[in-house]
Amino acid sequence: MGERRGVVVLGATGSVGRSTCNVLRRHADRFRVVGLSAGRQSDALDLLATEFEPEFVVLADSGQRREASWTGEWRYGAAALIEAAADERADIVVNALVGSAGLEATLSALEAGKRLALANKESLVAGGSLVVRAWRDGTGDILPVDSEHSAIHQCLAGRPSGEVRRLILTASGGPFRQMPVGEFADIRCADALVHPTWNMGSKITVDSATLANKALEVIEAHLLFDIALGNIDVVVHPSSIVHSMVEFQDGSTMAQMGFPTMEIPILYALSAPERLRNEFEPFDPVAAGPLEFETMRRAAFPMFDLGLTAARIGGTAPAAYSAANEVAVQAFLAGSLSFTGIPAVVESVLHSWDGGPADSVRTVVEADAEARRRATEAAGNCPDRPGC
Ligand SMILES: NC(=O)c1ccc[n+]([C@@H]2O[C@H](COP(=O)([O-])OP(=O)(O)OC[C@H]3O[C@@H](n4cnc5c(N)ncnc54)[C@H](OP(=O)(O)O)[C@@H]3O)[C@@H](O)[C@H]2O)c1
Repeated sequence: MGERRGVVVLGATGSVGRSTCNVLRRHADRFRVVGLSAGRQSDALDLLATEFEPEFVVLADSGQRREASWTGEWRYGAAALIEAAADERADIVVNALVGSAGLEATLSALEAGKRLALANKESLVAGGSLVVRAWRDGTGDILPVDSEHSAIHQCLAGRPSGEVRRLILTASGGPFRQMPVGEFADIRCADALVHPTWNMGSKITVDSATLANKALEVIEAHLLFDIALGNIDVVVHPSSIVHSMVEFQDGSTMAQMGFPTMEIPILYALSAPERLRNEFEPFDPVAAGPLEFETMRRAAFPMFDLGLTAARIGGTAPAAYSAANEVAVQAFLAGSLSFTGIPAVVESVLHSWDGGPADSVRTVVEADAEARRRATEAAGNCPDRPGC
């Protein structure tokens, strides 16, 4: 066994971050924690630091600074996150931040030649070709953490994109898979925050309910695997056992499956191509029951097609889509925007979007800020504001 690989976990206090810490706890013989970050939860970060004894921790929101029991190096602010992603003691950076706040850390890790275990899909969607260029031109690598993309990565096993006919992403369909569209206006936050198969942070849980998450994932798959958008399909699979599929040119279709847990794709992103031993309950195909698939109700979930429209426009449009969605979801979670208001807000931002190419970090950051400004205005003017 070689030296333990150094890992920085950005967003360690979130859902993916906590799952990553579980994986690191179990595989302490293979990985050592170099750095951990949180946004606002300084107490939770303090506890993790006391347990893992990293070289440093970063609290992004310096206003949340508290007296801490861990006496190691505390860093503060967004710039410290970017620095952490390039720390020379780290081999692997897990980006488990939420939203476009993760963009500069993603670029920083790739430019520093790290293995980037990427959960933060918004940074790839917003940064688009900028991120792909930093990856392809440098010595860094991206290993997807999203279960769908991890499945595709595993099915591809290094085969070139030219051998692929189609990617088939599975979607649980979310909590409103079968709900009549006429009832969508009455959906409350509590209804949207109950995901049928996965336990995740609040933003991605709402994104799963609107299917914005699936649009983000199609764009993510397009960029990661160099497959045309038109060759990526989505199929609803309510039990989330098959994580995704690859159809090859010869007609063979490979699927990767297992009970839904993020710890398997996280461990794969840390260790691939090696497969480390995990003590999970073994997958039981009989207990998993029949594998059911259905067509997605696309017309009922306009956030999906809005995302694909943004991807086809290209340039800064995906960044605008993602940023406007973040604002709309926050408003929904705060009780000031209805569920149906989310696509209304995003559509109003995209409808008037005239952004150019996403050719520099500055352009993307400015587009993100402008989309947020327009979305905030649109959310304020949205006629149906039910309060959750
Ligand atoms: N959850 C899943 O199972 C899952 C599966 C696939 C992909 N993903 C993707 O993984 C990413 C993380 O999702 P999640 O569900 O783990 O989110 P989450 O539970 O909300 O956690 C987000 C993490 O980022 C930190 N954070 C939030 N805003 C920040 C900011 N502006 N600056 C710095 N740090 C910030 C949070 O800190 P505090 O805790 O201190 O607020 C927390 O540590 C998302 O891109 C999501 O789409 C998640």
